[in-house]
Amino acid sequence: MRLERPSLKWETEHIAYMREWDEDRMTPSSFHLKEDIPYAVYLEELVVKEAGHGNRVPNSNYFLVGDDERIIGMVNIRHSLNDYLRQVDGHIGYGIRPSERRKGYATFLLSEALKITDRLGIRSVLVTCNEDNIGSAAVIVNNGGVEDESFTEPHGNIVRRFWIER
Ligand SMILES: CC(C)(COP(=O)(O)OP(=O)(O)OC[C@H]1O[C@@H](n2cnc3c(N)ncnc32)[C@H](O)[C@@H]1OP(=O)(O)O)[C@@H](O)C(=O)NCCC(=O)NCCS
Repeated sequence: MRLERPSLKWETEHIAYMREWDEDRMTPSSFHLKEDIPYAVYLEELVVKEAGHGNRVPNSNYFLVGDDERIIGMVNIRHSLNDYLRQVDGHIGYGIRPSERRKGYATFLLSEALKITDRLGIRSVLVTCNEDNIGSAAVIVNNGGVEDESFTEPHGNIVRRFWIER
């Protein structure tokens, strides 16, 4: 299993991965595909967004690919924090395809993402999850997450916030 950068060769797999999700809820949102946008254009736009665009900080996107060349999960790594990320989204967002959950893949994916934040020189990594996301909280704790104060969003959603010291 390995992390791979999105590229043209993953188009069919990426579409199949997305079809497994209830589309609106696919995480991270940087991997959402739109039917009217060709994959090559999606990839070009992704590179622009990764450089830091509008209110986005520089970030990187990777697929978690299995030995059978299927995409198992996806991760978005933010290279720094702004106010919103510090309160709500943290440095790392990830998701695992529905048919591959509860097999330890998210725990592995976060551990691989932490190697990338290490290379970026990030010593305190913030990872968050919604209060009701027991699975994600376990993934974060499995990777050494220590809980900080929660943040309540204006609409009442409670975000649990964890720091992973490296
Ligand atoms: C949350 C999510 C990433 C977990 O992925 P996963 O590959 O199933 O996680 P793991 O198999 O590594 O599980 C880690 C731990 O969480 C537990 N767990 C996972 N899903 C769980 C669930 N729905 N309820 C309770 N526990 C759960 C596992 O049993 C495991 O426990 P253990 O370490 O004590 O053995 C996955 O369910 C997902 O993609 N959800 C939708 C997107 C999302 O919520 N992303 C995270 C945003 S913060």
